[in-house]
Amino acid sequence: MADRNDLDFTYSLIDRIFRLSLGELADFSGAKYDGDFSLTLEQAQRRKHEYVAEQIGIEAGRTVLDLGCGWGPLLNYVRERGASGVGVTLSSAQAAACRRHGLDVRIEDARKVTRREFGGFDAVASLGAFEHFVSPTDYYAGRQEQIYRDLFANIRGLLPEGGRLYLQTMSFGRNMIPFEQVSIDAPRDSDAWYLALMMYQFPGSWLPNGGEQIAAAAAPHFRLVSDVSGRLDYIETIKQWRERFAQPSWRKTLVKAQLVPRYLTSRDFRLAFTSGVSANSVCFERELMDHHRMVFEALPAA
Ligand SMILES: C[S@@+](CC[C@H](N)C(=O)[O-])C[C@H]1O[C@@H](n2cnc3c(N)ncnc32)[C@H](O)[C@@H]1O
Repeated sequence: MADRNDLDFTYSLIDRIFRLSLGELADFSGAKYDGDFSLTLEQAQRRKHEYVAEQIGIEAGRTVLDLGCGWGPLLNYVRERGASGVGVTLSSAQAAACRRHGLDVRIEDARKVTRREFGGFDAVASLGAFEHFVSPTDYYAGRQEQIYRDLFANIRGLLPEGGRLYLQTMSFGRNMIPFEQVSIDAPRDSDAWYLALMMYQFPGSWLPNGGEQIAAAAAPHFRLVSDVSGRLDYIETIKQWRERFAQPSWRKTLVKAQLVPRYLTSRDFRLAFTSGVSANSVCFERELMDHHRMVFEALPAA
């Protein structure tokens, strides 16, 4: 699993730049354009929230758990709908930002959340976090499937029979290359180089091998209701993010200036944040990666 240090590297370091670029309470996962790229980023993120609400039932009086809640966009939407939300993240900066906005967010490992600690929920959502639940070390040690199976068993324990889970995640795609070829020393612009860059941006994280692997791990506890690809919408989301991040502001310049020592001393930092290319976007375009919007329904308890 990506641990707290990994996630602080990915999310806490860019916390202020993220919020200055995208806004407080902004989403950091693929939006839902449904191919209509005339929508603004905010409209497409709103459309995603509405879709999640429709799929898992977010409405007044209901309780919702957000596993890997980021800067709290879905929790904020849950609150607007009159429902009650709890979030978990492993990024301390995200938790602090959420709490400043009155959201109930705890620093906990989403994989370990149980009914004993958190109580039950009417619905569970997890957007853009599943990607972090298995590390390369877990993968090479053969633990990937077991981690996913344990996670689904835990989530099932939080829900009533028929309760729903919305899971949004990237996966390796149909053109994925053999893992041993992935290397930052591969020729620039090759598949192997872009995939290696992804691993610098998201250290400690390893993707699922397509929707089938996820559905199989969930099968003892959940019926798969739907699995829709958000790959093309994600490419547009990244394009919009990059435009926002590139918009100049003196505050962002100040924050970036504070990161200069890190830039000078850390190759990992330079590769993760200043490569000048969007590895994510290219991996989606080349179908080295895919993207899933999955809805599950809890089966009767075994
Ligand atoms: C790409 S962000 C997505 C945030 C948010 N769901 C959204 O859509 O904007 C991934 C989130 O997953 C969280 N995360 C990753 N692994 C986690 C774990 N094991 N336990 C709790 N949170 C985790 C990160 O801290 C971060 O908040």
